[in-house]
Amino acid sequence: MTARVDGPDKVTGRARYAFEQPADGAAYVWAVPSVIAKGTIRSVDASGALALPGVLAVITPDNAPRLPGAEDPELALFQSRAVAYRGQFVAAVVAETLETAREAADRVVISYERAAHDVTLTASHPRLYKPDHVNPRYETDTAVGDFDVAIAAAPIRVDATYRTPAEHNHPMEPHATVAAWRGDTLTVYDATQGPSRAAGQVAAVFGLEPGQVRVIAEHVGGGFGAKGMPRANVILAAMAARVTGRSVKCAVTRPQMFAVTGHRAPSIQRVRLGASPDGRLVAVGHDVIDQTSTLKEFAEQSAVATRHMYAAPHRRTTHRVVRLDVPTPSWMRAPGECPGMFALESAMDELAEACGVDPVELRLRNEPLVHPETGRPFSSRNLAACLREGAARFGWAGRDPAPGARRDGRWLTGTGVAASTYPARAMASQARVNLSAAGRYQVSIAAADIGTGARTALLAVAAEALGVAVADIDLRIGDSALPTAMIAGGSMGTASWTWAVIKACHALREQVRTRDGAVPSGGLTAQAATAADIAALPDHARYSFGAQFAEVRVDADTGEVRVPRLLGVFAAGRIISPVQARSQLIGGMTMGLSMALHEESAMDPEFGDYANHDLAGYHIAAHADVQDIDAVWIDEEEPELGPAGAKGIGEVGIVGTAAAIASAVYHATGIRVRDLPIRLDKLLRSNP
Ligand code: MOS
Repeated sequence: MTARVDGPDKVTGRARYAFEQPADGAAYVWAVPSVIAKGTIRSVDASGALALPGVLAVITPDNAPRLPGAEDPELALFQSRAVAYRGQFVAAVVAETLETAREAADRVVISYERAAHDVTLTASHPRLYKPDHVNPRYETDTAVGDFDVAIAAAPIRVDATYRTPAEHNHPMEPHATVAAWRGDTLTVYDATQGPSRAAGQVAAVFGLEPGQVRVIAEHVGGGFGAKGMPRANVILAAMAARVTGRSVKCAVTRPQMFAVTGHRAPSIQRVRLGASPDGRLVAVGHDVIDQTSTLKEFAEQSAVATRHMYAAPHRRTTHRVVRLDVPTPSWMRAPGECPGMFALESAMDELAEACGVDPVELRLRNEPLVHPETGRPFSSRNLAACLREGAARFGWAGRDPAPGARRDGRWLTGTGVAASTYPARAMASQARVNLSAAGRYQVSIAAADIGTGARTALLAVAAEALGVAVADIDLRIGDSALPTAMIAGGSMGTASWTWAVIKACHALREQVRTRDGAVPSGGLTAQAATAADIAALPDHARYSFGAQFAEVRVDADTGEVRVPRLLGVFAAGRIISPVQARSQLIGGMTMGLSMALHEESAMDPEFGDYANHDLAGYHIAAHADVQDIDAVWIDEEEPELGPAGAKGIGEVGIVGTAAAIASAVYHATGIRVRDLPIRLDKLLRSNP
């Protein structure tokens, strides 16, 4: 876990991911998925599986160890005979080899009492309800002024409904765990975005103290939110290891990821904008309808960005969800902001057209001075600067000529713009720094590198804070035995971790200074925690902002959409590591392009599960889809969010991209696609 520059390890294959961790005498577990979407397990016949040589155990609801503290029903494996969705793990086989486990899993015969399932989200579903809050703890609804009166009286109105499909996170490394018990302590190697949080949650499931579970995540091959919380694989591996007394390896397959590792819920979003003829907003309304599962409520916060993006005296946002017989939706890069801003920013484009105001200018005209709903001042707000910088760099020429009028041979061409935003936050973390008598530094924090290059950024920050060279520092991350840290999620990893690291480094320097530089033979240690600093933050509104500019070409005959140019300009506080920051931002934008044009998990109403089962059926943007893409940023001070001044860049890159592309497609074709993805049939269908 000591690593300096880890790039060579990653590209040469030396870097170890969870499943690759060596485990003496490891056994393998393979899950049996439910083949019904709703109902009850009547009986399980394990005899055929147990008869196969090499099978160690078949775990079923009849014999599974009881889990005393599984608060998350998705983690309460085999604790009930009820089936909540198709693909749910309902039994498992542990065997000497992966192949045996898989073969035996096929021989487990489960008889079900099938019930009628309901897996279809509709805007008028009779069981829609108002959740107590939306992810993670936002108010469900907000209202300021009198929206109904203001929208009815507005001279210019947009009233449109936008739809986003279910989408699935597909990091290159599927979820995987290696688990081993020693007495009542459990060690797991896991593909997780947060070793500290995972250790606490796994301990709770098994009724253990947090210190009895150690989670190690040396390298993680992407997460995007899917690895932000423990999934069934962790519990499955630990349970199988408990039952067999062996180390157990568990790898989630790509097809299983469509059921057990979360998805972005499909959304139906009505946006209503009322404005004066010059485009000044008087009323903003955003009503979101989403699905959740019968197991657990996850209500995606898709209207929250609408609460702070634009000024308007009359406003309303609402969220409603319905419990369907589907897997539990979960975090996927910029949950809330990403689908919500597709709707809001598409509506802003429609308003720009209705008013005859340039879409960049329309946004500038509606910049709020304070948070429009809470009245809190923004700690920094540089959306206008991003829009202006982007317009200049992109050569933004607005909506001229009119939609559908620009042609280059068989290609219709167009440009589009959208704004972007993401909350800037930090969460309590701890860090430790040691200085040995020999003069070497060791920085320790239970951060995770999910492929972002966290080690490089943390080393740069530690070196600066200590006033020494990066080569003098050993960095330890990816282990819950290290000082407790925030997950790599919510765009909070870097801001949270660097705060604790810099604080510990400064404390160590102070120790060295008071000793006039003399380091005792046992070395020196400094520890830091940031909970109190974060609790004492002024009550400001803190967000990153950005502007996305897209150029598209649409084949007039086939409807094929290409995106020759994408530019994002961001204001995200201090950028710590420019090379990696650019990579994060263009990665987010690429995922936004993918959302705009390709990604769609298709619910099969008959069988009740997502029909996509691999990356051929779930299309993700490839290199050929991405052409001239660039991300730049403007200098921005964010003094409140810790000594590094970082606002976070993991998610703001995806937000707004799909709206910019959809607006560009409209400019090219005159066809407004309000339901993603922008498949070519949608362009041909309405194009006689
Ligand atoms: Mo991200 S969806 O906060 O891991």
